Amino acid sequence: MSKIMVLTSGTSGIGKSIALKLLKESHDDNDKLIINYFEEDQMVEMSAELSETDRNEVSFVYADLSTYEGLEGFVSDILAISDKIDWLICNTGIGTYKKFDEYDYELFDRILRTNLSIPTFMIQKLKPHFNQYGKIILMGSLAGKLPYSSSLVYSVSKAGVHHLAQCLMKEFDGTYVSINAIAPSFVQTPWQKGRSEESYERINKKINLHRFAESDEIAKLVYDTLTNDFINGTLLEITGGYDYF
Ligand SMILES: NC(=O)c1ccc[n+]([C@@H]2O[C@H](COP(=O)([O-])OP(=O)(O)OC[C@H]3O[C@@H](n4cnc5c(N)ncnc54)[C@H](OP(=O)(O)O)[C@@H]3O)[C@@H](O)[C@H]2O)c1
Repeated sequence: MSKIMVLTSGTSGIGKSIALKLLKESHDDNDKLIINYFEEDQMVEMSAELSETDRNEVSFVYADLSTYEGLEGFVSDILAISDKIDWLICNTGIGTYKKFDEYDYELFDRILRTNLSIPTFMIQKLKPHFNQYGKIILMGSLAGKLPYSSSLVYSVSKAGVHHLAQCLMKEFDGTYVSINAIAPSFVQTPWQKGRSEESYERINKKINLHRFAESDEIAKLVYDTLTNDFINGTLLEITGGYDYF
């Protein structure tokens, strides 16, 4: 059976690895992968890296998913491509390392909106368009399970994302659409640019495998979850064994 797949922020880091995994595992000529991008350069670079077959399967769609208008435009672009969807992966996430005392309301609101409110309303708008046995994955974080001293607002937003997966499971009751959240600990992506050697060493000491995850390890868990019909309403942690010591 062919699939219509939608992925947000799919041209960088974890999102790009998810996109490449979905394309690698796609064996039906009618499969379609709709990838949201934000920075055009990233999209152009990724598009150039794809084989012709993969490029034919992908529709790159611009959207600023930190705004409600961006969300509305993205949803109408998706529905112009297909009225039905099978898989939705909400991967967009932003953060700040500003200290709590330096927060202003706009910063807090933008991070909560991008990480939590926009995915919530994206799912609300797309809900009537899911095929039976559809799948939704929300990108959470270990920072949503443990109070994350480096970023209060990010931690709170990701805790909301985890709970959203469980609450939405109830909203989808009767549709046979599954929804899960994935919580990675530390992943080697552009998100980490600027991290000092001292910071890597300090964090690696707390991880049983003593390294950050590669983004394709997260993509594999996403794919395994999408293809398992009995995983539902769950938070899947992928941490390498955090806080071992
Ligand atoms: N890296 C980690 O250690 C880690 C750990 C746990 C969870 N996560 C989560 O994993 C997800 C992906 O992060 P990543 O590590 O892959 O970092 P990343 O490479 O920096 O990816 C962040 C993505 O968000 C996109 N983005 C930023 N602002 C946007 C906006 N206004 N509208 C649409 N897209 C926007 C970026 O697009 P452009 O590149 O086009 O700007 C980029 O594709 C996030 O939800 C993050 O919270 C990451």
